[in-house]
Amino acid sequence: MSLSELLDLVFRWVHMIAGIMWIGNSMLFNWLDRNLEKSKDLSRLSQGKIYMVHSGAFYDVEKKLLEPGDLPKHLHWFKYQNLTTWLSGLALMVVVYYLHGASFLIDPRVAELSPLVGITISVSALLVGWIVYDGLWSSYGDRHPGVATVLSIAMLFGSIYGFAQVFGGRGAFIQTGVLIGTLMTGNVWMSIVPSQHALVAATKSGGDQDPKLSIRAKQRSIHNNYLTFPLLFIMISNHFPATYQHHLNWLILISVMVGGAGIRHFMNIRYLGGGLVRPPGAVLAPAAGMAGIAIAGILLISHIKVESKIADYPVSYAKAADIMAKRCTPCHSAAPTDDQFKVAPVNVRFDKPDEIQLMSPRIKARAVDSDQMPFNNKTAMTAQERAELGRWIVDGAKLQ
Ligand code: HEC
Repeated sequence: MSLSELLDLVFRWVHMIAGIMWIGNSMLFNWLDRNLEKSKDLSRLSQGKIYMVHSGAFYDVEKKLLEPGDLPKHLHWFKYQNLTTWLSGLALMVVVYYLHGASFLIDPRVAELSPLVGITISVSALLVGWIVYDGLWSSYGDRHPGVATVLSIAMLFGSIYGFAQVFGGRGAFIQTGVLIGTLMTGNVWMSIVPSQHALVAATKSGGDQDPKLSIRAKQRSIHNNYLTFPLLFIMISNHFPATYQHHLNWLILISVMVGGAGIRHFMNIRYLGGGLVRPPGAVLAPAAGMAGIAIAGILLISHIKVESKIADYPVSYAKAADIMAKRCTPCHSAAPTDDQFKVAPVNVRFDKPDEIQLMSPRIKARAVDSDQMPFNNKTAMTAQERAELGRWIVDGAKLQ
């Protein structure tokens, strides 16, 4: 295993573990908040109580403010799960998308960028994205949250479209994910955690917390809440070339974002507080509708084809094998000759006839029905070759 592959694996593993802890915590606290039960016996500073059963005993949890003297010695914070997720995500971005000549970020068929220019655009977009978003919500968002919400969504969708015009499909999706992750991390460390520090300080001094800080923190926390499902989709999307390699990939991503955030919305409003919930039908039906938007977006848009590309004359195995040897085996071979891929990617090899035959449905999906392979069309496969390969597969991928 090469060093960069090892780093990829280690960072990915850490990223997943930390991500599950971060999102898991955040979901649990959201759920707790919405399920708190208020009763008259609770103290003036109490915001509600909840009983749960888990791992062999009962949990008796109360959400409350504290009197100055009551601040406990050990207070548990939940912030490093987020930081670890973000840092390991950035490390992955560097190892997978910036190294190796940024070949997973840039696709010359989308835009002819040099690696340096591509990486500079990617990093600047993260910085500018945070500055603009934070600026908007730290000033204007206080007074006009509705308008700021519409503007933020428009800017996010605009960025997705923009990324799809400069980066390869996979790069555009992951760039959107890193941007969202960066905004969420900024929200945690620049707004939510400072507001919690202010709460601790106010409790110590017996004063009141600046309400502006806590309102802003609440806003940012709601933003993070809505972004979780779309972000999780982006994390798994690079297993699905049909989504990110399509020429309307930005539209697919936007429909998944609308659907994903929509599902969260109906999960959020399910809990009315005080232990009351809406009837399941009133929530499940619209949530299923939002899931439908996401799935229909993927399904319908990914089926919009540019043209059908199957040759109308018979193509022999010899001809197909010839095309594969020229365009595919430079990477997909036991001994690749490509300057970047020194081992066959995902262990897919086309050295032997039965290897080609066995993979023919995937060859059709990746090189005939779409032009996702060869990777970045590095071996300059022509449209005619795709059509001929298509004919050989459609006729049964026979070996003679
Ligand atoms: C420059 C190197 C390169 C060339 C040339 C290349 N590929 Fe790939 N291939 C990759 C990489 C990288 C992956 C893994 C990433 C991915 O799946 O997008 C891959 C993955 C695949 C997969 C496995 C994933 C799946 O969807 O099942 C198939 C099949 C495939 N390529 C087919 C082809 C065919 C057919 C050709 C020739 C027409 C070809 N490739 C040419 C680099 C290359």
